[in-house]
Amino acid sequence: MNLILLGAPGAGKGTQAKRVEDAYGIVQLSTGDMLRAEAASGSAIGREAKTLMDAGQLVPDAMIISMIGSRIDKPDCRNGFILDGFPRTVPQAEALDAMLKDKGLKIDHVIEIKVDDDAMVERICGRYSCAKCGAGYHDTFQKPKKEGVCDVCGGTEFKRRSDDNEATVRSRLKAYHEKTGPIVAYYAGQGRSKAVDGMQSIDDVTRQLKGILG
Ligand code: AP5
Ligand code: MG
Ligand code: ZN
Repeated sequence: MNLILLGAPGAGKGTQAKRVEDAYGIVQLSTGDMLRAEAASGSAIGREAKTLMDAGQLVPDAMIISMIGSRIDKPDCRNGFILDGFPRTVPQAEALDAMLKDKGLKIDHVIEIKVDDDAMVERICGRYSCAKCGAGYHDTFQKPKKEGVCDVCGGTEFKRRSDDNEATVRSRLKAYHEKTGPIVAYYAGQGRSKAVDGMQSIDDVTRQLKGILG
């Protein structure tokens, strides 16, 4: 099963993708995570991407399309994949359709996690993750069971994303509405997209997703 999770910054794409990954044995492909890994490596592409990401702008389509194209070919995608943060522009959606056709693959579900912009600043500014295993947390909505200790690996170091501040979040939301909004119409026009209410609790959103995925 291959799916696309659409949703604004902070909608819960990453949070839900991890749960779907565990429940269905398919792999999360987050273009944001790939770009952050590239930035951490210090490569020229990574440095270019980091400047754009920290300004809340999208990176060029060509960079993302080639990155995702080679990632889908890896053996761990054979059972299926969850696209988290891709496609994000209509040219990316068109390139994805062409790429999948070439590879003899298809997308089974396109699901939009619908949220209100106003709540997203709080979600994003309160987000942090385990420095060792990457498990995601939130200051208010998703605390570790024992304060300061990762539930998954027992790690005690945590980190925050450099683009998770109020000013950048506003730019990211603007980019989402301008560039990614039209994708919802692109898939809806083809009768391919469904929506879940992302303003519900994390568990409830997972239940809605499982209702669609079966
Ligand atoms: P990316 O990493 O994809 O960031 P984003 O789209 O801004 O989305 P986030 O990761 O911030 O939010 P999320 O929906 O994953 O929310 P999460 O589950 O963490 O992209 C970053 C940048 O990379 C872009 O700005 C761009 O520059 C570049 N980029 C990436 N892909 C690109 C592409 N295809 N083309 C061009 N550029 C690209 O949840 C957020 C927080 O809320 C967490 O703390 C969580 O615990 C909490 N939470 C989640 N769900 C709920 C809930 N239901 N109730 C309460 N709290 C919740
Ligand atoms: Mg994410
Ligand atoms: Zn951890």
